[in-house]
Amino acid sequence: MKNRSKQRSKAANLKAMDRRDFMGTLAAAAGSTAVAGALSPFRPSASAETVHFDNPPGLGGGGPFRCECDIRDCDVEGEIPLNIDGAFYRVGPDWQYPPMKGNIPFDGEGHVSMFRISGGHVDFKSRYPRTQRYRAQAAARRRLFGVYRNKFTDDPSVANLSRGTANTHVVYHHGLLFALKEDSPPVAMNPHTLDTIDDYYTFGGGLHSLTHTAHPKFDRATGEMISYGYEAKGLATDDVYVFSANAKGQITWTCWIKVPYVGMIHDFAVSQKYIAFLVIPMATNVERMKQGQVHFAWDSTLPTWFGVLERGGDGKDLRWFKGPERCATHVMGAFSEGNKIYVDMDMALKNQFPFFPNLHGEPFDPKAAAGTVHRLSVDLSEKTPRDYNMEELYPQTGALPRQDDRYQTIPYKIGFMPTSDPTKPVNAKLSNVAFRPTNSYTMFDHSTRKTRQFWVGDDSSLQECCFVPRSKEAPEGDGYLVGVTNRLLEGGRSDLLIVDTAHLEDGPVARVKLPFRTYSQVHGWWVPAEDLPKA
Ligand SMILES: [Fe+2]
Repeated sequence: MKNRSKQRSKAANLKAMDRRDFMGTLAAAAGSTAVAGALSPFRPSASAETVHFDNPPGLGGGGPFRCECDIRDCDVEGEIPLNIDGAFYRVGPDWQYPPMKGNIPFDGEGHVSMFRISGGHVDFKSRYPRTQRYRAQAAARRRLFGVYRNKFTDDPSVANLSRGTANTHVVYHHGLLFALKEDSPPVAMNPHTLDTIDDYYTFGGGLHSLTHTAHPKFDRATGEMISYGYEAKGLATDDVYVFSANAKGQITWTCWIKVPYVGMIHDFAVSQKYIAFLVIPMATNVERMKQGQVHFAWDSTLPTWFGVLERGGDGKDLRWFKGPERCATHVMGAFSEGNKIYVDMDMALKNQFPFFPNLHGEPFDPKAAAGTVHRLSVDLSEKTPRDYNMEELYPQTGALPRQDDRYQTIPYKIGFMPTSDPTKPVNAKLSNVAFRPTNSYTMFDHSTRKTRQFWVGDDSSLQECCFVPRSKEAPEGDGYLVGVTNRLLEGGRSDLLIVDTAHLEDGPVARVKLPFRTYSQVHGWWVPAEDLPKA
């Protein structure tokens, strides 16, 4: 019912569009690919404002990319292993129009790209998901949305549109590619063409949350996607909607829970038995939003809360365990043993996001923001509520940890993370670079607590990596890391690197050279060819 109401409101707000655009919007919502994304190319401008990007905030620096393109047979240096057959998808923010002053890099429109690898060849494709926001702004030829997750800064004409940018993560389930932003339902895309199929995907009406995380988890044994939405009943609500969708995309389990305070819950953990959330002091601040600020501010007076509930239950067993001020954003892996749950995350002492302000005026502290891999755990058989356990596993600093995704929800031992090794040199020609590049992929073996490292060299900076198994049944961690790097001496030009995990230290076996600097990725996802639907 909510979705139908939203579509009616959407229609009212798109009256400035011509009939072709309007029908395209309805068709997209109904699941058609035929006209989704169609735009009149030479519409008279609704505004005399010139489109000009004056140094907009961007992840990794540089201006927006804004180019949807196709490259058949990319330039490849080295040799692509023939056992790699599938698609590496990635997404990141890429401004459609110049952002409002005070906005942050995470609010650019999502741009999805695909490296389709097969038979030693690579084809590249990139498309913007046709979100409700993208289409409305394209029709108006100007920015209509204000600052990050703040509806109070929007143009009134878009009050009933989804604010979702689809810019954070891209995952695949039941034949659909989902471009995700945690403030809105998924945007469903065709995994071959990257055409937008549905700009407000509700799993056939089964999703009863206004939001959906960017980090669902996948149970390989059952084919389930386990997911949630926070602030699920609207702005600053303390409700979290938790659900599971079966391999056909039908929602088969849901429950509602409450959080101790409303803040960022960017990721969560799922084991075979439990689901866990970490609430961090990145608190939603409506008062500041009404003053034109972004959605979050770091409140150092707040504790962290680690909440655990049983998977498949009614949520009433949820228990919260208290911890100190910490920032933790991404889960590497999680598993349960008996009544214990273990969750591995990158964790730092303080706010890790320089563009989310510290509420009490503390300056951003890069040292306290450096994250390392921690293991959080609790024993649910203990009756008395108490703190959760926290152990630092490794000294390497970095962000965006990943695992062999076949081991999501089950005991695992191998993890990966882009890291910054301060002992490695930085090219002398890069003395003007204000940041230390992310120069390594580190591979962690929890069974030995040993690490191995791929160093990209002194002239490049790495983005997040994804793991590609050498074969369907290859041992855990045996395969390849794929990820985009920026060549800093070439204006940030982008390469896709393919690194063999059996010979991590030897460097990439292949380098896919793009003829441009593409936008920076937030997250990526690998889909084996055998899992993709027929084209
Ligand atoms: Fe994330």
